[in-house]
Amino acid sequence: MQRFQINSYKEYEKAYQASIDNPEAFWEEIAESFVWKKKWSKVLEWDFTKPEVTWFKDGKLNITENCLDRHLKDRGNETALIFEPNDPNEGAQYFTYKALHSKVCKFANVLKANNVKKGDRVCIYMPMVPELTVAVLACARIGAVHSVVFAGFSASALSARINDAACKVLLTADGGFRGTKITPLKDIADQALETCPTIQTTIVLKRVNNDVTLLKNQVWWHDQLKTVDDNCPAEIMDAEDMLFILYTSGSTGKPKGMVHTCGGYMVYTAYTFRNVFQYSCSKTNDFGRDYTRSSPKDVYWCTADIGWITGHSYIVYGPLANGATTLMFEGVPSYPDYGRFWDICEKHKVNQFYTAPTAIRALAKQDTNYADNYNLKHLKTLGTVGEPINLEAWNWYNDYVGKGKCPIVDTWWQTETGGIMISSLAGVTKDKPTFATLPLPGVQPVLLDTDGTIIEGNPAEGILAIQFPWPSIARTIYGDHQRYKNVYFSAYKNKYFPGDGALRDASGNYRITGRVDDVIIVSGHNLGTAPIEDAINEHPIVAESAIVGFPHDIKGNALYGFVTLKDIGSTSDQEALRLEINQLITEQIGPIAKLDKIQFTSGLPKTRSGKIMRRILRKIAASETDNLGDTSTLLNPECVQEIMDNVL
Ligand code: WTA
Repeated sequence: MQRFQINSYKEYEKAYQASIDNPEAFWEEIAESFVWKKKWSKVLEWDFTKPEVTWFKDGKLNITENCLDRHLKDRGNETALIFEPNDPNEGAQYFTYKALHSKVCKFANVLKANNVKKGDRVCIYMPMVPELTVAVLACARIGAVHSVVFAGFSASALSARINDAACKVLLTADGGFRGTKITPLKDIADQALETCPTIQTTIVLKRVNNDVTLLKNQVWWHDQLKTVDDNCPAEIMDAEDMLFILYTSGSTGKPKGMVHTCGGYMVYTAYTFRNVFQYSCSKTNDFGRDYTRSSPKDVYWCTADIGWITGHSYIVYGPLANGATTLMFEGVPSYPDYGRFWDICEKHKVNQFYTAPTAIRALAKQDTNYADNYNLKHLKTLGTVGEPINLEAWNWYNDYVGKGKCPIVDTWWQTETGGIMISSLAGVTKDKPTFATLPLPGVQPVLLDTDGTIIEGNPAEGILAIQFPWPSIARTIYGDHQRYKNVYFSAYKNKYFPGDGALRDASGNYRITGRVDDVIIVSGHNLGTAPIEDAINEHPIVAESAIVGFPHDIKGNALYGFVTLKDIGSTSDQEALRLEINQLITEQIGPIAKLDKIQFTSGLPKTRSGKIMRRILRKIAASETDNLGDTSTLLNPECVQEIMDNVL
């Protein structure tokens, strides 16, 4: 019998082997630890050529019963959720499993009262407040499909996502606090709603108390709660019913609405959460009972926003399915000062801390080493996600935060994979700086050369692919299955292609080397080049543009734009034009996609078939011009010298 928790390297090896030898038997045993309304008839059916993947066929469940109801008996009074507000003086809020359950049921009834039914899509555009977690779970409670849009996206990005999924209801807030700033979410939402005919009702939470007026078909969250009770039976869902849609950038075209389903996603996020972080649910934890909170067990904190997959899987679903105490933070690492993360760790006695390399680099860059000013002795596991972590950042994290005694789990995964794919298991399998290390049970990675041949043996370097389905693989792109097939299953036959390159050391540890497509990861956010170029090209005097990434100390990568103008003499004020271009990007996508550098040029290097050679631009932007390769076959080789001469 497979045990849910892996406690030693030997157990990892055994579990991994079992998951390869007989994946169905392996996942069947893991899935039996959950509450199902009806058992599945078949564990797995799959065909990557279509592609079609079915886990736990005919199984019936509701994920919120697994995240909430089943904990009520034994740990109803333990803390499920800790909310740490932007302003530390506002004071944290604690929600027991009972309280969270009651809030979710109540809000689920609000949704029902607003005509939301199973299968309807609900867009959530909210700050990082407890009501966001409640809203997500309330959707799941009644079988509505949530589509959370990160509250940093612009009105036009929001409306594109609402329209793509034809959402019926929008949940938003008057505004959101982020450090010293307030994001005017309601104003942005109103602007988006001008072009969203499918939204029937908007429910608005009061958070910042700014002056907003409700328009037609808009209601206050708190008013809605007045007329509902907290009795809401969970909708019975098929294992393969949609749980949520979450958008991720592609290298071309509009964002892809990745679809995740109920059963496999629940099983995989819960299993990986427990094992990667080695979260301990024991009644008394290592430092004895803590009377300042009702929870005697580990406190886990993931700093991501619920607007991203990391927040979905490892703030909400994975931890709650384990009966864990999960912390959510509304603010930013720099407010009131760069000690805030460590202040929160000390205050809430955080045991597992999960963040992004870009945050680690920003903190490591400060003149004061704030981490030294706080008591971090409760930390047991550190984690990173979202982009490759460089050695310097890894060392700083290890030395100053972990004090050399906390394992660091470098977790590689994607919006599309739903859960962590390659990572060490804290303290159980070995970590290795800058390596994600070993695949989790059930994950079968391979390295391919450019023709798609599997590279056997170690060490090796190539294109990463996965050759067998795992339970939380995205099932499709909402409304565009063909695109799902083209992007992920067509590059290499019978394999899932994530878009990353990797190498494997002599012991089989994986290190992710970065994207092999036109997605650029800036501060841990995936940005496709095409949508940014489209935004720039809307400027009336821009002819063409090409975006590449270049190395940046804190953000990992920053964006460099090469722009040609319709009439080269048409502007003398380049600075003003740069501001206008970034303004367009902010409006179309959001401030996260702004360019750090914009170079105007008379031409972009192109192949004879007219394709922009981004490879050359990438090298110029990174100041690696000594090996540009052969440029003589270009249509317009002369522009390369001009671009090099004027590089910023
Ligand atoms: C990158 C975030 C190196 C990778 C969960 C992937 C990483 C993309 C790591 C997905 C890591 C994520 N090391 N690179 N530990 N984790 N990535 O969809 O390029 O926001 O394909 O999901 O981030 O980003 P996404």
